[in-house]
Amino acid sequence: MKIALIGMMGCGKSTIGQELYKRLNFKYIDTDEYIEKIENRKITDIFNEKGEVYFRKVENNAIIKLSKEEDIILSTGGGIVKDKNNIDVLKENNFVIIFIERSIEKIIESIEQENRPLIKDNISKLYSIYSERENLYKEYSDHIIQNNDTLEKAINEIVELINL
Ligand code: S3P
Repeated sequence: MKIALIGMMGCGKSTIGQELYKRLNFKYIDTDEYIEKIENRKITDIFNEKGEVYFRKVENNAIIKLSKEEDIILSTGGGIVKDKNNIDVLKENNFVIIFIERSIEKIIESIEQENRPLIKDNISKLYSIYSERENLYKEYSDHIIQNNDTLEKAINEIVELINL
């Protein structure tokens, strides 16, 4: 079983992924953490020093590499849907793609801005980013899980889903 979590920054992908890892005994990898290790610097520094185009290239390579892993929960960066090739790679490698949907209001209440270059200076940019991506998240996912209630509820729904 291979699961990829997609969705906006701050929607809960990493937290949910880590909980699933504890419950399911799968590997858990966060693509941003993986990229930070490979590049040996923070995501914000990659954006500042090399730019978004470079980051997206590194992100695409990370997806290609990580898609070969088995029994894995992959928490992806919010922007992977910007390049359909990322989604094609995940699908070709038999990932079940789950869109974690959380309202922008809730995201704003809880998100940490520092390591998120796209909203560092203006958190309300989340609205325009979401309107650009909402349809992509929906179109590319196999399942949609709401994360507007408790985390526990979202996790239970995913566990039920993948036990089917
Ligand atoms: C991005 C989301 C971030 C990170 C980068 C770009 C985006 O990941 O990859 O800052 O374009 O939405 P998270 O979704 O894990 O915050």
